Amino acid sequence: MLEASRVFSDYVRSSRDTKAPVIPRIDELDLTIPEKDGIGTAGIWDDIQTICGAATNTWSERFLYKLYASPTPIGVVGEALIGLLNNNAHVFQASPIGALIEDRVGRQLAELARFPVGTAAGLTFPGGSYSNMHALMVARNRRFPELKRSGFTGAMARGEWRRPMIFTSAHAHYSIEKAAVAAGIGLDNVVSVPTDADGRMDSHALRMLVEKALADGGAPFFVNATAGTTVLGAFDPIDEIAAVCADHGLWLHVDASWGGPLALFSSDDRFGGYRVDRADSFTVNPHKLMGVPLQCSFLLMRDGLAPMREALGLGASYLFHGGSPNVLDDVGDATMGCGRRPDAIKLWLAWRYYGTEYFRRRLANARRLALDFADMVSTRPPTALGHWRLAAAPQSTCVCFWFVPSQLGAHPTPQPSWGDATRLLCTRLNYLGHVLVDYATVDLPAGSLPTFFRLPLNSPHVTKETLASVLCAIEQTAKALLDEDPRCFDADKS
Ligand SMILES: Cc1ncc(COP(=O)(O)O)c(C=O)c1O
Repeated sequence: MLEASRVFSDYVRSSRDTKAPVIPRIDELDLTIPEKDGIGTAGIWDDIQTICGAATNTWSERFLYKLYASPTPIGVVGEALIGLLNNNAHVFQASPIGALIEDRVGRQLAELARFPVGTAAGLTFPGGSYSNMHALMVARNRRFPELKRSGFTGAMARGEWRRPMIFTSAHAHYSIEKAAVAAGIGLDNVVSVPTDADGRMDSHALRMLVEKALADGGAPFFVNATAGTTVLGAFDPIDEIAAVCADHGLWLHVDASWGGPLALFSSDDRFGGYRVDRADSFTVNPHKLMGVPLQCSFLLMRDGLAPMREALGLGASYLFHGGSPNVLDDVGDATMGCGRRPDAIKLWLAWRYYGTEYFRRRLANARRLALDFADMVSTRPPTALGHWRLAAAPQSTCVCFWFVPSQLGAHPTPQPSWGDATRLLCTRLNYLGHVLVDYATVDLPAGSLPTFFRLPLNSPHVTKETLASVLCAIEQTAKALLDEDPRCFDADKS
């Protein structure tokens, strides 16, 4: 244990070093598994150090890659505690403390979402995709109760078949489509609702599409609104979407996997509109903006766990015995799984340790930094190497931009060649390993944006200096690429 604590602290110290690579080289690793005797304590710490040295370094402030970053130290303690206890959160007796904490944290988050106090509840799932999938399955079985027993074929055989349809914005995360695949809805029955110029769902288009689906004999039943889209960080207009759902009796799910903490904790009105009791279910991933170690995702249900139990429960008697004095019995039966990690412990510990105010400050800082960074990009002076352009105003904490090499001219509108340059620069930067950044593209009503850099700002370790150094690194990489091949960015390069 002492050795673990020493190795882990050394790892954090060295990973935070400004010279530490974000992606180490992993050329020569010995990953063989011993056929007979294991290496024991004599060798295992070397192995652990090898893994640390070869791991992607999320502790660096130059890890600006996906929608998570380094965990908080108390989060790491929580993760270790879960491993130590090895409690299973499927039935109450297997983890009474895990069940009580999960219930407490779920209700607290639900309260922040302004769901009805005393009724609403939440469960953890291994990631936002699974939370979204469970929301869809519960909505589906509530709308088509016979499904649980007879599947879609039952309704078909009775000649009562109507095409089940779900609606989500063109910018929603793919997990909604995956959920439709898993739930037997099928991709053809996922209606992609166009967005406005900021990437927010067009609620007027939603209304028209729902009404058309009904007129065509379909059975719309579920709308997903995203709070913090994966690329632009857009917040779909929840009030207008809720009105469409209310008018047509549709289940309203909010995928707030990414932007949920802003919606729940931030005092900024831009996000606070998401505290609504009109949604039926709400996904939030504390493992993204809140620094809880992967995985920690909550699905909050306005009407509590009963609809989940009804939709998905089977009551296998060899596992689920019931009988404990509270409603937290057998929560595993309300999910599509069996064994469950008590992931809520990690969030509870962090919340107890830091208090609510810490999360408010952390989120406000991330938002302020995103605005400052956008400003930095749009006002950065052009050089002989090229100029900078914002791809979109930051709507939450992601900043999207281009570096346009001078060879590509000074077009007023984005060009496809800007996308090629972004991919080339990003690939080289990440290969060098000193920073890890990402790129993306989106379709907007005016057309697709060429691939742009997308930097999510969610680590409290990132500063304006870090971000300025990333911009310098992009310019230096452009220079290095041009030194190797002066035509590397040319639009007509075959
Ligand atoms: C909006 C949104 N929803 C869902 C997910 C999926 O979450 P997870 O990776 O935890 O499955 C993501 C992941 O980035 C996301 O951005």
